[in-house]
Amino acid sequence: MCGIVGYLGGRDAYPVLIKGLHRLEYRGYDSAGIAMVSASGELNLYKSKGKVADLERFAESKDISGTIGIAHTRWATHGEPNDLNAHPHYSQSKNLALIHNGIIENYSVLRLELESKGFRFRSSTDTEVIVYLIEYIMQTNGVDLCTAVQLALHQVVGAYAIALVAKDNPDQIIAARKSSPLVVGIGEGEYFLASDATPIVEYTDKVVYLNDGEIAVIRRDAPLKIVDLDNVEITPEVKRLAMNLSQLEKGGYPHFMLKEIYEQPQTLYNCIRGRINVEGTNVVLSGVIDNRDKFLHASRIIIVACGTSWHAALIGEHLIEDLCRIPVEVEYASEFRYRNPVICPGDIVIAISQSGETADTLAAVELAKSRGAFIYGICNVVGSSIARATDSGSYIHVGPEIGVASTKAFTGQVTVLSMLALTLARLKGTIGEDKFVRMVQGLQAIPDKIKEVLDHADAIADLSKIFTYAHNFIYLGRGYNYPAALEGALKLKEISYIHAEGYPAAEMKHGPIALIDAEMPVVAIATTDSIYEKTISNIQEIKARRGKVIAIVTEGDSVVRSIADYCIEVPRVEEPFAPLVASVPLQLLAYYIAVHKGRDVDQPRNLAKSVTVE
Ligand code: F6R
Repeated sequence: MCGIVGYLGGRDAYPVLIKGLHRLEYRGYDSAGIAMVSASGELNLYKSKGKVADLERFAESKDISGTIGIAHTRWATHGEPNDLNAHPHYSQSKNLALIHNGIIENYSVLRLELESKGFRFRSSTDTEVIVYLIEYIMQTNGVDLCTAVQLALHQVVGAYAIALVAKDNPDQIIAARKSSPLVVGIGEGEYFLASDATPIVEYTDKVVYLNDGEIAVIRRDAPLKIVDLDNVEITPEVKRLAMNLSQLEKGGYPHFMLKEIYEQPQTLYNCIRGRINVEGTNVVLSGVIDNRDKFLHASRIIIVACGTSWHAALIGEHLIEDLCRIPVEVEYASEFRYRNPVICPGDIVIAISQSGETADTLAAVELAKSRGAFIYGICNVVGSSIARATDSGSYIHVGPEIGVASTKAFTGQVTVLSMLALTLARLKGTIGEDKFVRMVQGLQAIPDKIKEVLDHADAIADLSKIFTYAHNFIYLGRGYNYPAALEGALKLKEISYIHAEGYPAAEMKHGPIALIDAEMPVVAIATTDSIYEKTISNIQEIKARRGKVIAIVTEGDSVVRSIADYCIEVPRVEEPFAPLVASVPLQLLAYYIAVHKGRDVDQPRNLAKSVTVE
């Protein structure tokens, strides 16, 4: 949700900033802009509606000299995506330029106040008020830029990551954060700034993650200085990045999404490695073991998440209730945070988030924390805000996910939840030894089973051509496969823009079956499990109304094959792990349909990867 990049050092800033914007484009891609102090001392600002490539075309013939600059790729919140509303924004005098990720909630009050003092705004964004306010404070109080930022931010209500450059100081970038991420990269005589580490990793592995309420004063030829809003100096905590550059490239695939789908055997292997022993007889999720008393005495587990992570949470609910006999509730983080939830002593709140930056999930964590709950995080991005806000947790270790549609993070989340449930079940003694070992070995085998699914990709690509022109889709599943149906429908709608709904198969007769006719494609997940027969009856009901059934079945299945119009086989796995194999053909189906429709698969319209606004 908006990407921020900054550079200060000895290189030309422009290529570093543009490359950085490309890496962050997954965060927002409706407009982009750049501000640099040129070799001749001008504060040049170029911005353009559209993608980073449009900005590059626009800047081609312009003065792009300078060794300091800030850049931004936008996901619009206030004001439509156009050249004027794109960031950076000049201050009134054009002596300052600012970029912003987040939402300023009291911007209209601040704007009115500044307008009453004669300021005239150029855009309809909430952002412009910050840079006008900072300049106003500098002028009226006679203070330097950093002090003006501190004073201004005391007046600002909302979420922000901001960065500023000043025309008269080509040796300084000021950056600040509250509830939106910012990372400073420390190179040899140079600094990088970004919303996440992806634009930084190719230059340095030394980074400092800013915390809420911190301001980074980045100066040429001087150490990084961090202060808070009251000017108390904070010692920067330098961390080493574990990520490498090849993880950020497409590696020969036409889209990140396809690359990430194909990475799943490896990413799940990485997720399991060091947690399941080689013999497949034990699983140790250290976050659970380290907090064994809390988990052993938990009277209830509440899982909060959004989108795909919420679907993983629903599978976690099945797993934990089934294996550990602990009641579990799954909540949309966006609802949980606003409905005064009951949180009792002994409750554990698990927050699931790929990015670790989702504003609603972070707010749900803060709320649960304020009510005294123990919070466990399941995140992908190391050092992210949610990972840092939780008491303990487990990373899913699937590497950077860049395609906006989540794929490998979903299977990573389900894998961690499976390991969590198994670790806890053994601690609680709610699982027999034979079943435990069978399940652990079943989970250990999943990466290879997913390889087998990927071998059918060509057949799925062919099948997708038949359904490219559908306007609606229904996805059905039961038990563990119901969340997989929801996830399959979400994948299709977000990247192909085809309307798709997921339902528990037996719910169809309570209303949605009215939608079925010969035009309606129905994806039914009907793997061989404890409710297989029931699912078959539900498929019969669809066929009786002439719906077109695409069934996901266990290899060797002949019963569903005789009823369904099309079948995609997946390998036989332990029942709780069915979503791990069933979701992969659904990812591929959505991907190929979107490609046939000519959609921008990695950057679908209206979306952004990291939803840092509510
Ligand atoms: C869908 C998708 C979104 C995210 C949701 C939560 O493909 O990616 O639904 O799952 O925005 O994001 P995280 O997991 O980063 O909190």
